[in-house]
Amino acid sequence: MRILIKHGTIVTAVDQYRGDVLVEDDRITLIGERIDVEADRVVDATGKYVLPGGIDVHTHLDMPFGGTQSADDFETGTIAAAYGGTTSIIDFAIQYKGETLHHAWETWMRKADGKAVIDYGFHMIVTDLSDAVEDEMDALVDQGITLFKLFMAYPGVFMQDDATIFRALLRTGKNGGTICMHAENGGVIDVLVKRAPAEGKTAPKYHALTRPARAEAEATHRAIALAEMADVPIYIVHLSAAEALEMVTEARDRGLPAYAETCPQYLFLSYDHYEEPGFEGAKYVMSPPLRPKETQDRLWRGLAFNDLQAISTDHCPFCMKEQKELGHGDFSKIPNGAPGIETRMSLVYDGGVRTGRISLNRFVELTATSPAKIFGLFPRKGTIAPGSDADIVVFDPEKRLTLGVATLHMRVDYSPYEGREVVGVADTVLSRGRFVIDGGRFVGRAGTGSFIKRSPRSI
Ligand code: URP
Ligand code: ZN
Ligand code: ZN
Repeated sequence: MRILIKHGTIVTAVDQYRGDVLVEDDRITLIGERIDVEADRVVDATGKYVLPGGIDVHTHLDMPFGGTQSADDFETGTIAAAYGGTTSIIDFAIQYKGETLHHAWETWMRKADGKAVIDYGFHMIVTDLSDAVEDEMDALVDQGITLFKLFMAYPGVFMQDDATIFRALLRTGKNGGTICMHAENGGVIDVLVKRAPAEGKTAPKYHALTRPARAEAEATHRAIALAEMADVPIYIVHLSAAEALEMVTEARDRGLPAYAETCPQYLFLSYDHYEEPGFEGAKYVMSPPLRPKETQDRLWRGLAFNDLQAISTDHCPFCMKEQKELGHGDFSKIPNGAPGIETRMSLVYDGGVRTGRISLNRFVELTATSPAKIFGLFPRKGTIAPGSDADIVVFDPEKRLTLGVATLHMRVDYSPYEGREVVGVADTVLSRGRFVIDGGRFVGRAGTGSFIKRSPRSI
């Protein structure tokens, strides 16, 4: 199968030029100013950008959490991702107490098998770090699962103490894996949450008010300090608070290999949403919570100056009906998480590139190239180059879309961005040379996505 993408503007993390791209089977084989060869299909990309497919390194599909299950499975979630211009995701498998990492991996492989329409990899959430599990971490790195998520929050469920975190960090120094951290001080939050009902604090906004920015900053600082003592890199997931960003910036200024991602919800939404009437604030219950609006400028600066290296979604959708509703009258029972797998690229292009906050190259870097490099996928993915997988987005920078449940494809009954208009939409999407989205229509097939075996850390 030969596909020729003609007359587009090819954009990578470092280049921008007019040209044609030839795809043969699942790879890009040729890039040139003008390619005239026979092809099975010619895509006219005039006036459009030809971008590397987006890489979302933080999703939760089909995940049991907060007494329920995230609403998208690997079929609906990856279809929505593809509509949004994302061609690879890395999801989180969960090791439950007493179980092996291998069992968790197999369980999540089964969830994805036969369903995913784009490629997928896994990180591993470690909740029970015995000596045997440490050995298993080595084996997993060899098998392409190179990142282990630990939690400093959710006591009794996921939270790990400093000694355990330190042991895991030390192990990654030997096996080439990386620890990523949910950095919030779970002990402090637990005390605040348990006191809230007696003070009449039951509404959704108290989810945010019991998770102070300083609790995120303290944990971020501690995580980085533990990694420094173990002499290994660390990656902070879903960073939301300016105070936490300061900790990452300070560490990077000292030359430490501290990395962090933020997510569109922290760039485009803010604490004010929790003040929406009735139970509406539940739509935005996620951890860490949304922060004051002023934080957004700080995060954009962090993205522009490389104190933040990636934008992922932390896509963890729960419907309002029957799921978020579990927390009526008790905010602590609202399942934590929000949908975002489909809206990332358009939101960041519209709100980042079009507003001049980041360049077009930086947009590609933050949504594809840098995640590919940090997570062992580059140069197979994350760029447009001969030999790379043909994960390509033909992106229409002028097309408008009003975000909302009526226009989006995630299996969830609300959108945190309902009614917001974005300019810049994925028009045609190839996943390893297969059309998944063609002129805005889904044309892919469940089960065609493959597990991505990732290389050990190169950062
Ligand atoms: O609220 C969130 N972020 N839900 C997903 C789980 C996590 O901590 O990433
Ligand atoms: Zn987390
Ligand atoms: Zn998450």
